[in-house]
Amino acid sequence: MPKEKQKVHSLTAVPSPGETAAAARAIEQIDECPKCFGSGMEVIAGKGARICDCRKRKSQAGKFESVRLPKRYDGFHFHNYKPQTASQEAALRLATSLTMEFPAVDRGLLMMGSVGVGKTHLAVSILKGLTERGFKCLFYEFHSLLKEIQDSYNPKTFTSELSVLSPVLRADVLVLDELGASKPTDWVRDTMAHIINTRYNDKKLTIFTTNYLDERKRDGEEVLEDRIGTRLRSRLFEMSRTVLLDGKDFRRTFDR
Ligand SMILES: Nc1ncnc2c1ncn2[C@@H]1O[C@H](COP(=O)(O)OP(=O)(O)O)[C@@H](O)[C@H]1O
Ligand SMILES: [Mg+2]
Ligand SMILES: [Zn+2]
Repeated sequence: MPKEKQKVHSLTAVPSPGETAAAARAIEQIDECPKCFGSGMEVIAGKGARICDCRKRKSQAGKFESVRLPKRYDGFHFHNYKPQTASQEAALRLATSLTMEFPAVDRGLLMMGSVGVGKTHLAVSILKGLTERGFKCLFYEFHSLLKEIQDSYNPKTFTSELSVLSPVLRADVLVLDELGASKPTDWVRDTMAHIINTRYNDKKLTIFTTNYLDERKRDGEEVLEDRIGTRLRSRLFEMSRTVLLDGKDFRRTFDR
């Protein structure tokens, strides 16, 4: 009997985080599932019926769907982030401890550094871990978020669709990728300030990445403050821990 029990357990096992990419693909094939023919129940001859693997995968993939992670980040995980510099090592450590300790953390992260040092890789890994732990997470590239808000703007009511903004304000953990990437118009600054200040006041965790640095290295080079304004930069100091990642562009170094 103990052997049988073990078997039942393995039948109901939930896919590991690494399998979620495959799960997302499986979701599209659900109607043509050869095991259950779309019913969601698989009949095992002589034993009865059980919930089909395809349904278990579907619920797993659904959990990640609401996070809105772009498909191209399917392969980003903590376990395949290989730090190349001391600062990348420190960033990995901070990112993993935040993922384990949340919600007992008082500040988010602002990962800053040049292109290809792994800022998005780490931010995505945090969201995956926290989604696994059951928290409501959301990913947005800053530029796309602004565009969605702008596209939903109704000039008659002077408001934007709440369907775009409300998940952004409500998520337990929000990643805003590529902060400062949009041309800093007044509207962009106001919208940015609204989102960031609301989340700050509600004590919600926000994780930022940006290609802009604090220190101006060359004359005429734009720094983060130029892109988001002095007030918002100082608000970010309060609500998130700044982590500077240095290193070479990972894609250039390791693609060959
Ligand atoms: N330390 C690392 N270990 C493994 N892969 C990395 C590392 N740093 C970057 N990458 C990979 O290089 C590419 C660029 O990383 P990304 O996180 O998008 O950079 P950034 O957001 O800093 O511009 C991605 O495919 C990512 O998985
Ligand atoms: Mg990035
Ligand atoms: Zn099935």
